[in-house]
Parts: sequence; structure tokens; C-alpha cells
Amino acid sequence: MPGMSKALTILGIETSCDETAAAVLRLQDGCAELISDVIRTQLEEHAPYLGVVPEIAARAHAELADLTVKTAMHEAGLSYADLDGVAATSGPGLIGGVLVGMMTGKAIAQAAGKPFIAVNHLEGHALSPRLGNDCPFPYLLLLVSGGHCQFLEVRGLGEYRRLGSTIDDAVGEAFDKTAKTLGLGFPGGPAVERLAEGGNAEAFDLPRPLLNRPGLDMSFAGLKTAVARAAEDAPQTEDRLRDLCASFQKAVTDVLAVKAGRALEAFEPGEGQEKRFVVAGGVAANKAIRAALEHVAAEVGARLIAPPLRHCTDNAAMIALAGAERLAAGLVSGEAGDLGTGARPRWPLDEAAAKASPVYETGRRGAKA
Ligand code: KG4
Ligand code: ZN
Repeated sequence: MPGMSKALTILGIETSCDETAAAVLRLQDGCAELISDVIRTQLEEHAPYLGVVPEIAARAHAELADLTVKTAMHEAGLSYADLDGVAATSGPGLIGGVLVGMMTGKAIAQAAGKPFIAVNHLEGHALSPRLGNDCPFPYLLLLVSGGHCQFLEVRGLGEYRRLGSTIDDAVGEAFDKTAKTLGLGFPGGPAVERLAEGGNAEAFDLPRPLLNRPGLDMSFAGLKTAVARAAEDAPQTEDRLRDLCASFQKAVTDVLAVKAGRALEAFEPGEGQEKRFVVAGGVAANKAIRAALEHVAAEVGARLIAPPLRHCTDNAAMIALAGAERLAAGLVSGEAGDLGTGARPRWPLDEAAAKASPVYETGRRGAKA
């Protein structure tokens, strides 16, 4: 049909943390259609250790990767010959897992004679709202996951400007550590959220670090320590636990909401453009945080866009989308694609900002998102 671009069918693979995932997606004229979307979590393997164990993760990815890819292809009803490219997370993340997914993707791409697309996991999160929503560039992005907490201006594909960041722990990390302190198991985010629902958020007076300092930088390490101290002092009844979870979640939410308000004020999308505010990453699954951000956005006439819960936490659909968008934009090198790209444990979206102040890019488990 005249005026229509060629549809691109891409297999995406994600193995950078504790989810082994594969998805097939078709992109045409900027519209993404998800054809299959398989996510195998390794939660059970890591739960006894109350955190992700890199060596266990790498081994589990090696055991699960080919079956997960096969399942995604089978559910899509396609063969490798039907693909236009194979995308895999090539960083940042736990390097053992990243290597497994990347080598699986490279092998399939080479055997099928298709380009390989090296995808930055953070770019996957950054583009995840575009999977189902009407979410054109530019937009303000709050990326909140287990390894990152950043405000970024997303001007276009590959055009990221970091506006602010946590200077110590990521938000997801604070949820996980709080859950560990309170004996709630792993992963912490959903467990803390569940308990917080029945608690009194005013019961504990917890700090809101850096709240009154101008700018968009954040800090969560002190908050986590304050929770630990409060837990020691308070009797461990079910009610107190609920109150502590609610107070912690409220403190995090307040910080994110105030900083988001400030970021939205400063964000200029351009003449006649709607102000779009995206929240993405695992912590974006938190309903209280989503509701608070929705409120802040509404106050300044902005639209909050958040991926469905399934695509907030790690998944391969967002990796397939990032791969498809890169291929469509001609950002993939040569016919074989990015075969020469190696796995990167650290891979900031705004390289210049990361170089200027590297401390802001450090997170738990390397630079895991
Ligand atoms: O993006 P993600 O799936 O993975 C990486 O960090 O790579 O994010 C996982 C993080 C974990 O720290 C988890 O505790 C947090 O997101 N998380 C949540 C919720 N669901 C997941 N935090 C708060 N509330 C939730 N409902
Ligand atoms: Zn992630």
C-alpha cells in the first residue's frame, strides 16, 4: 500500500536479571503489535537467599533461554525465517545472564541470516509505554526499578537527557531492603505494597531525604536505615508491620511526587505539544505511587502514561520493541547488525551525564535496571 512502511517482525530476548523472557512483536508505521510474550521468572530459585544471586541467575538463564525462545516462536506461529531481526538485552545487568541472552540472540540471528540488534535494557524500559499506549516523543520519563531511579527527558529514539537521579539506592532496592529488614521475603516491592494497604501511613515519622533541596536528585539509603531503626524499636506486631510498610511507602511516594512535580514544571515538550509523563520500571507497578503521580500530572495538565503491570517489571516485549524501533530508524549497523557489540554491565542512557557524574549511575548489582 502506498505510504505504508514495511512491517518489521522482531524476536526480543531479555535475560539481564531474574526473568528469562522472549517475545515476538510486529512494528508497522510506529504501531506495535505484540504477537507472543513469554516471561519465566526465577523467583523460586532466588527466594531462599532474599535476593538475586548472579551465579544462580546465569545458570537458570542458560537452562531456560532456548525453551523460552522456542515457546515464544511457537506461540507466534512463526519460524526464524519469518523474522526481520533478533534483539537481545546486551546490558546493563548481571553479566552472566546478559551473555546468555545475547549469545542466544546472536546465534539465532546468524543461523537465520538476520540482523542482530543489541538493546540497552534501560531503553527497553524507556520505550515500554509505547507498547500499547499512544505515546509519541517527546516525554518526561521517571525510570524506577531495582537498579535505577532517574528522571530523563526522552526527545526521540536514542535521545536521552538525564535531569536527576538517586545519589545512592534505587527505589526498588529500598523496597527490597525494607522487605528484607522486616522479614517479608523477596521481591520486596509487591510484599511491602500488600502490607501497606492495611496500614497507617502517618504512624511512623520517616525522613524524606533531599526533599527540600532544589533540583531532581534523590536519596533513599537513609530512609531504608530509618526503617531498620524503627523496626528495632517497635514491637513486631502485624499491625505495626503494616504501619511501617505504609509509612515507608508514603515517604517514597512523597519524594517521587514532589520531584515529579518539579520535573514537570521544568519540562518543555515544545510548541503545541501535550505534556506527557511516563513512569516505567518495576516500581511503576506500585498502585499508590502510580496514583500519586497521576495526581501530580493532573495538577499541571500533563498526561501520565504507565505500561500495564506486566510490562513494568522485566519483560522481552519492551526489548523487541526497542529492537524494532532501532531497526526501523536505521540505527543498526550493517546487514549482520550489532554482532560486534559486546555485553555491557554498565550502559547509561545519557552517556555524557554519566561521564560527568558517574556516582549517579551506580546501583545495586552493577548498573542493573
Ligand atoms: O524493572 P525491574 O523488573 O527489574 C530490575 O530491577 O531490573 O524492577 C524490579 C524492582 C524490584 O526492586 C521490585 O521490588 C520492584 O521493582 N517492584 C515494586 C513493585 N513490583 C516490583 N516496587 C514497589 N511496588 C511494587 N508493586
Ligand atoms: Zn529492568
